[in-house]
Amino acid sequence: MTNFPLDLIRFLRKATRVVALTGAGVSQESGLRTFRDAQSGLWAQFRPEDLATPQAFARDPKLVWDWYAYRRRAAQTAHPNAGHFALAEMEKKISQFTLVTQNVDGLHHAAGSKNILELHGNILSVRCSQCGAFADDWNEDRDEVPHCKKCNGLLRPNVVWFEESLPREQLDEAVQATRACQIFFSIGTSGAVQPAASLAHAAKAEGAVVVEVNAEATPLTYKADFSFSGKSGEILPELVKAVWEDQG
Ligand code: OAD
Repeated sequence: MTNFPLDLIRFLRKATRVVALTGAGVSQESGLRTFRDAQSGLWAQFRPEDLATPQAFARDPKLVWDWYAYRRRAAQTAHPNAGHFALAEMEKKISQFTLVTQNVDGLHHAAGSKNILELHGNILSVRCSQCGAFADDWNEDRDEVPHCKKCNGLLRPNVVWFEESLPREQLDEAVQATRACQIFFSIGTSGAVQPAASLAHAAKAEGAVVVEVNAEATPLTYKADFSFSGKSGEILPELVKAVWEDQG
């Protein structure tokens, strides 16, 4: 059971503007692989430059399509865990709660969170690599990458690859919410990828209280005002309970 400082509990009870940034660690307890775990991380087994860049798709679209199809199936069959549900619960308690996620698995939506900014896209949707039109359905079984029904371009996952820009509106909103927030959570992210990683530092520079929840130490751990070491699926529900249920 985590022992939360009373200062943090009181501050959260009063807070009206909170941002939570999440990463792959939040979905780890739903059975989805993180990227940078030395043994089980996706980038321990695959090279991002072979699978997650526009050049990789141009070179071998089928390889890239199949890798994302495999991850899409994993996301489709996964269920939100207690950490996702705790964040959805937090949103109900705080008047302006913004969930900024690097995750593409859609599990925050499935858990009931509403105000979500998906900085790296969503693996469950597919768009044309030429005209950008979203595809409602496509044939997964064929030997080749499915084509756009409008322009015949190759379909691709609706995610952000390395060397691509993040969705402008989502990023702008995330930066605005970060600058205005009183409390910033960094949860289950290694802080290795920009610009998401810089948000916690921007929040701190603007005077927000920064809280980290992570299974391991990260570059943010010693800069955060509060760092909780452990699984987000355990710590976040305990925090919600301590702040809003155990009001003694
Ligand atoms: P990483 O794999 O880099 O980091 C996952 C973090 O979650 C690590 O710091 C782990 O210690 C932590 N962690 C693991 N299990 C946890 C648990 N149960 N509870 C809490 N923390 C846990 O994933 P991200 O930081 O999300 O980008 O990676 C950022 C981006 O890098 C991804 O969005 C992806 C990747 O390349 C793109 O594909 C564009």
